[in-house]
Amino acid sequence: MQLERIREPVGDELRRLDAVIVERLASDVVLVNQVSRYIIGAGGKRLRPLAVLLAARACGYAGDRHVEAAAVIEFIHTATLLHDDVVDGSDRRRGRDTANHVYGNQASVLVGDYLYSRAFQMMVDLGDMRIQEVMANATNTIAMGEVLQLMNAHDADTTEQRYLEVIYRKTAKLFEAGAQTAAILAKAPPEVEAAMVAYGRHLGTAFQLVDDVLDYRASAEELGKNLGDDLAEGKPTLPLIHALAHASPEDAARLRAAVENGGLDDLEAVTRAIESSGGLEYTARLARRETDLALEALSRLPESAHTGALRELASFAVGRTY
Ligand code: IPE
Ligand code: IPE
Ligand code: MG
Ligand code: MG
Repeated sequence: MQLERIREPVGDELRRLDAVIVERLASDVVLVNQVSRYIIGAGGKRLRPLAVLLAARACGYAGDRHVEAAAVIEFIHTATLLHDDVVDGSDRRRGRDTANHVYGNQASVLVGDYLYSRAFQMMVDLGDMRIQEVMANATNTIAMGEVLQLMNAHDADTTEQRYLEVIYRKTAKLFEAGAQTAAILAKAPPEVEAAMVAYGRHLGTAFQLVDDVLDYRASAEELGKNLGDDLAEGKPTLPLIHALAHASPEDAARLRAAVENGGLDDLEAVTRAIESSGGLEYTARLARRETDLALEALSRLPESAHTGALRELASFAVGRTY
């Protein structure tokens, strides 16, 4: 409902985005089409391209290449999802069985590569060296974030700081790159570009903090993903990191064992321990703080329907249930 309203100022461009995505997915290799259409056809919220489209207009961009830029960001995002679900051993995504579940890990990894490289071809077509630099750096940063996270897996001593570094790299960076790309397209002055960078970073950080709350507390059906995926892989996300430091000694020992062993046998007890130690509230509070910082960055932009929608997008990121 709320997303519908946020999409309104760029409704026309979102329809064009759809067409660009379909057109640029096409390959003469059957399996590429099958897998890419399978995951893209499931939709997803399209928050990142939405942010690109709104940000470009909010910065005063009057052209139409922001639609291509938005498609590039969505392709990069989708590639990370294909790879991420293999790495995380996830079975559900966007309300469907994951591509790795249906087509296998090999197809998922390879089609993820296809999407990454297609995104880079499209980026070259955009013909702006700075945009290429921003997106190349973002893609590299995401890869490092996912590897850093792998290094933290099963490590119950992971600190909040190490966690925040991971989520900045694996998730916030792409939001940041999208918003910055929009500012570059609009030839915005440096202070406006900096405001967009800050907006994207804080929005993306809030978004991932909430994602990590939802992994313990959501309706799996509405979320379109299984709950407990993080615990299953022994991922110490912030709700759990906070609980480890604040739970009773008995609960803390249980949480520690759950991270070290992974698996879902103890999900119910772990969720209870996280809840009673306030880990979910703490994480949600941090997300709200990030949203406030995103809003503060936006206040440096001229007021418009697009700036208003960007503000609502920041609220959506923390209030969301899917
Ligand atoms: C999922 O992102 C991956 C994370 C960074 C948490 P989204 O929740 O935006 O995924 P879709 O595109 O809507 O499916
Ligand atoms: C997603 O992290 C980050 C990237 C895909 C780069 P998660 O593993 O937490 O996201 P979900 O929960 O699988 O969507
Ligand atoms: Mg995952
Ligand atoms: Mg998650």
